[in-house]
Amino acid sequence: MDDPFVVGIDIGTTKVCTLVARVEGERSLRILGVGIEPSQGIRKGTIVDLAAASTSIARSIEKAQRTSGLEITSALVSLAGSHVASVNSRGVVGISGGVIDELDIARALEAAQAVAIPHNRQIIHVIQRSFVVDGQDGIRAPIGMHGYRMEVEAHIITAAESTVENLRQCVQAAGVEASQFVLNPLASAEVVLSETERTMGAIVCDIGGGTTDLAIYIDGDIWHTMVLAVGGNHITSDIAHGLRLPIDQAEEVKKKYGHAVESEVAESDVINVRSFGQEGPAQVNRRELANIIEARVEEIFQLVLQEIKRSGYDGLLPAGMVLTGGSSLLPGIRNLASTVMGLPVRLARPENLVGLTDQLHSPAYSTSVGLLHWALLMSETGLVHERRRSPKGGLLDSDKIKDFLRRLLP
Ligand SMILES: Nc1ncnc2c1ncn2[C@@H]1O[C@H](COP(=O)(O)OP(=O)(O)OP(=O)(O)O)[C@@H](O)[C@H]1O
Ligand SMILES: [Mg+2]
Repeated sequence: MDDPFVVGIDIGTTKVCTLVARVEGERSLRILGVGIEPSQGIRKGTIVDLAAASTSIARSIEKAQRTSGLEITSALVSLAGSHVASVNSRGVVGISGGVIDELDIARALEAAQAVAIPHNRQIIHVIQRSFVVDGQDGIRAPIGMHGYRMEVEAHIITAAESTVENLRQCVQAAGVEASQFVLNPLASAEVVLSETERTMGAIVCDIGGGTTDLAIYIDGDIWHTMVLAVGGNHITSDIAHGLRLPIDQAEEVKKKYGHAVESEVAESDVINVRSFGQEGPAQVNRRELANIIEARVEEIFQLVLQEIKRSGYDGLLPAGMVLTGGSSLLPGIRNLASTVMGLPVRLARPENLVGLTDQLHSPAYSTSVGLLHWALLMSETGLVHERRRSPKGGLLDSDKIKDFLRRLLP
């Protein structure tokens, strides 16, 4: 019955990455198929051109099928964009038998979902945080406890239904069913966050091309998630405007000579660029380039800081920030982040990968690899073998529901 493969499709603003892995032993993955393809028709994490997006997604899937020799029928799909929102909610149930079981928890989570969610939004994740049993709060694992009334505190992530359906349609056009959508920063966190950071309190910040994805973890659980519609493409576009360069040249200059801290660049450093209206290459001070980059990157971290403050969890993040995503490759970005945020900052990327992993050691692939880990998390609960099932249905039969519910209910 068991299907020992997991598949993830990371649909980013700059690239689509499909990965196929075999589950080996209990917790390890061997990557067998990789399909990386430049994105088209996607802006700021959402689809703006169905045909173009479908084509790049189909190509990515096709490549992963070719390299793995496997046919992909269903996959976990990443989700981002400013249409994603999260709310905290409570669900209350009475305990009939006096002892709390899995069914009671599922009922409580069901009740928590009864918050007013507009009809044009879809629930993507329902994540339990903690429980209150007969007035006693802070309970982490209530199964087996005695009680008459149980309350669950849940974090609910919703997304615009039309946007989710567009994504589903694009994936389906390539013959693959999206078995579940996973919010970008939650996937990345599975790869970059250590258990200690997760427990102590830390924020994952994945700066990609079109979005900056955030997830706050405290006490081992997800407390807050957010997607900001700003990323590396904005830096490139600032460079293009500032130095009057075509976008593709600005992107190249950024990757080759970019630095996030102007004062860390030697005054004598010059680079050659070919600006609009210029006959030949002209010399530009590298500090000028760093100045443009620094302004934008600082703005991004100011937005992140604002978001942390708005969440109310500032002061609860002693482990600081774990920075990933393609834009975290910018030299100097760690120092700048630390200065703006006033937090310790660590750079992270997928590590200890096994199999076809040559390209995947970059921070740009944290979400892609994270999707596989997310799938693995569910395969432990036996759900990956029923990938075609509607995410909300039939969960109550699973024996291993306890582990699964600890983290999420799709
Ligand atoms: N060496 C580098 N220096 C600076 N920026 C870089 C470097 N390499 C990649 N980037 C930037 O990283 C971004 C792409 O990152 P990533 O692949 O994580 O994004 P994505 O997943 O496609 O997009 P998103 O998640 O935002 O939808 C691009 O803006 C690119 O310019
Ligand atoms: Mg991404």
